[in-house]
Amino acid sequence: MSEQRDLTIHGQWSSRWTFVLAAAGSAVGLGNIWKFPYITGENGGGAFVLVYLICIAMIGLPIMMAEIMIGRRGRHSPINTMRILSRKEGASPHWKYIGWMGVIAGFLILSYYSVIAGWAMAYVFRAGSGEFVGASAEQIGAIFSNLTESPARLLGWHTLFIAITMIVVARGVKSGLEQAVRFLMPALFVILILLVGYAMTTDSFVRGLHFLFDPDFSKITGAGVLIAMGHAFFTLSLGMGAIMVYGSYMPQSASIASTAMIIVAADTLVALMAGMAIFPIVFANGLEPSAGPGLIFQTLPVAFGRMPGGVFFGTLFFVLLVFAAWTSSISLIEPAVAWLVENHGMTRVTASVWAGAATWLVGLGTIFSFNEWAGFTLFGKTFFDLLDFLTANIMLPLGGLLIALYAAWVMGRRSSRDELAMGRPALFGMWHVCLRYVAPAAVTIVFLNAIGVVGA
Ligand code: TRP
Repeated sequence: MSEQRDLTIHGQWSSRWTFVLAAAGSAVGLGNIWKFPYITGENGGGAFVLVYLICIAMIGLPIMMAEIMIGRRGRHSPINTMRILSRKEGASPHWKYIGWMGVIAGFLILSYYSVIAGWAMAYVFRAGSGEFVGASAEQIGAIFSNLTESPARLLGWHTLFIAITMIVVARGVKSGLEQAVRFLMPALFVILILLVGYAMTTDSFVRGLHFLFDPDFSKITGAGVLIAMGHAFFTLSLGMGAIMVYGSYMPQSASIASTAMIIVAADTLVALMAGMAIFPIVFANGLEPSAGPGLIFQTLPVAFGRMPGGVFFGTLFFVLLVFAAWTSSISLIEPAVAWLVENHGMTRVTASVWAGAATWLVGLGTIFSFNEWAGFTLFGKTFFDLLDFLTANIMLPLGGLLIALYAAWVMGRRSSRDELAMGRPALFGMWHVCLRYVAPAAVTIVFLNAIGVVGA
């Protein structure tokens, strides 16, 4: 019977470590290094970070375990996994719509993720040509606006990034990806240590730490709490089936709980280090923490422009950032491609071309929202802001809520205990309670609270 369960048409990871690497590669990305610092800056710092950390521990970790578990039991793309498991558990086939929402969310996220990854690509060349050397914060700000104000340049990088993503996706889960993650992630980590080291040499290091870790609850709003929670899903790649799909390629023998713990810890560490590197530089240069999506592109180059070997480290940093974005993008589009292969009989290559072309097209909206359409806003949000809000703060938490309910209420206790095989019953009990009550209640309260704020 277990042989039957091990079958998947997409192949299987060669070991538990491959799964860890792939899932960590998915989790660690622009969300940690680009998004976490800028939304922390926009939402006042410490209190926001604390809420984010609580969401990671109480909602993120248990839901990550649930996603891996469901994926490994179903062994298909999220849509078909949900359909197959629901049939087995005697539940409604409508649960497959979780899979559907995930496919759409991943697809929409990739459309703007790719544009930002394009900025990082452009910066590889800016850093490499020595433009940052000795540049002031204003000069670096000008380099950034020059880039974002040019639709043609953004389009070129966006196109290139989608292309390299779809090439890897077309080749399948096992080739390429493993190697990339094995070497590049540790390298990224080392460069972050270096950047934190540089931040320590500025006179604002302590101020930066205070901003990040000293909670001032007067600065956080209901909307801020929603953004912190949404980001917990976003940064861990949860709520849309990415981790579920990777879980479906996971060997039956690997432990889900400890694997999830490693991924969550690594992801959180990278985000906090990025914050510790960036905010001291922000304050030391009189920049605004609330500068928005351009924050890291306006601050880190200042550091690279001043440190010894900055051209080398700066170039390397942006190369690694592009790789981190790349390993994340692959997981954003994998559910869509896996589904096209399973249900429409397409080859991986054809499926990748279609999915890539469609995402590319939606990405044009984000490109123009930084220049030609910057003036068009709805509820004070540009196209990019709206898309980000809709996906990260609504679709992912909603998907996560449904996944939690499914894993804890619909799937039999025996099935989940079997699949998790945690050994210690107390730990399993804690997980079950978290997933049954704590996580769903928390997500619901945060949603209601945020709506209340909007209505007030
Ligand atoms: N977690 C990635 C990051 O932080 C982005 C990402 C990859 C993602 N796959 C995902 C977000 C699936 C949500 C869902 O950069």
